[in-house]
Amino acid sequence: MATKGRVLIIGATGFMGRFMAEASLAAAHPTYLLVRQPLIPSKAAIVKTFQDKGAIVIQGVMNDKEFMQKILKEYQIDIVISTVGGAHGLLDRLTLVEAMKSVNTIKRFSPSEFGHDVDRADPVEPGLAMYKEKRLVRRVIEESGIPYTYICCNSIASWPYYNNCHPSQLPPPLDQMHIYGDGTVKAYFVDGFDIGKFTMKLVDDARALNKVVHFRPSSNYYSMNELASLWENKVGRKIPRVTISEDDLLALAAENCIPESIVASITHDIFIKGCQVNYNIDGVHDIEIGTLYPDETFRSLEDCFEDFVTMIVEKIHKGENEVYGTKSLVEAVPITASC
Ligand SMILES: NC(=O)c1ccc[n+]([C@@H]2O[C@H](COP(=O)([O-])OP(=O)(O)OC[C@H]3O[C@@H](n4cnc5c(N)ncnc54)[C@H](OP(=O)(O)O)[C@@H]3O)[C@@H](O)[C@H]2O)c1
Repeated sequence: MATKGRVLIIGATGFMGRFMAEASLAAAHPTYLLVRQPLIPSKAAIVKTFQDKGAIVIQGVMNDKEFMQKILKEYQIDIVISTVGGAHGLLDRLTLVEAMKSVNTIKRFSPSEFGHDVDRADPVEPGLAMYKEKRLVRRVIEESGIPYTYICCNSIASWPYYNNCHPSQLPPPLDQMHIYGDGTVKAYFVDGFDIGKFTMKLVDDARALNKVVHFRPSSNYYSMNELASLWENKVGRKIPRVTISEDDLLALAAENCIPESIVASITHDIFIKGCQVNYNIDGVHDIEIGTLYPDETFRSLEDCFEDFVTMIVEKIHKGENEVYGTKSLVEAVPITASC
């Protein structure tokens, strides 16, 4: 059996990167993780679980061009997947591209996107500034000749809190549900494990070479109103719905507090302007993932929300959170990046 391509993942200690590392190992790729030091204990534990599954850890940073050239050559890396955070580090990302270009051996690069099609979506500031950086990275990659695949997986399967960029770490609310606008604009909510699994297929698939791949699974296509009803059905109770208007989201975005305002601007783009659905996938470089893997299914949002019920039950058993009353079930986790 041919050996699978050697994969380097940059950002495996982060939110999206963990799905990539998990999927690369599950797909039996020789998997290398570039990890920054020092590691806080929770991240060290994550890295250890990947090492136990066979990952090789390389300590260092991607913004050191000579170091990156050295490890790409030394470990004969074929595929690079970057999931560094979205709101910072343009120069770091450009340095990585320069290093890959100079070694000239990379067979596929998937840059840190994993959200919307940044060439099409047009959020208000400050989301726009982040998208402009991602667009620039795309142009530099294309100019460099490095084979690429851009993954536009849309939203992660979870409640889309307008003030949290890692929403799948939180269950949907039990006290009140914020509905953006009239709640009718639809979006795609994709399970993180599926994002990882399909990314690994795509970076190894000649049909996805130099393509923008859009994830639009019909089983994961919901409006805020439908999402709210799904959650109410799961927990078996009515939950008050509170409208967050377009003006509310724009006002939060205009505060220009990073990264919270980025999340507000992207929430506006998704649920008011419909940025995930207001275009056809018809460009020469565009592919909808279902056309590549028609027999593969995506984990449904029904099932993903079932996981949140389990999460809540576990929290109740541990006595961690108040379930009734006006408080949120769990405290929001700090925002560290943007989507
Ligand atoms: N579709 C969605 O719903 C959604 C949701 C969230 C994110 N995203 C997207 O996913 C991508 C990743 O975001 P994220 O939230 O997963 O990021 P994150 O949680 O902030 O993780 C960033 C990772 O990159 C590492 N890193 C940063 N700079 C580095 C450097 N110079 N050298 C080596 N490693 C470095 C970090 O290491 P440390 O652990 O040392 O900090 C961390 O592992 C972004 O493009 C974001 O827009 C999409």
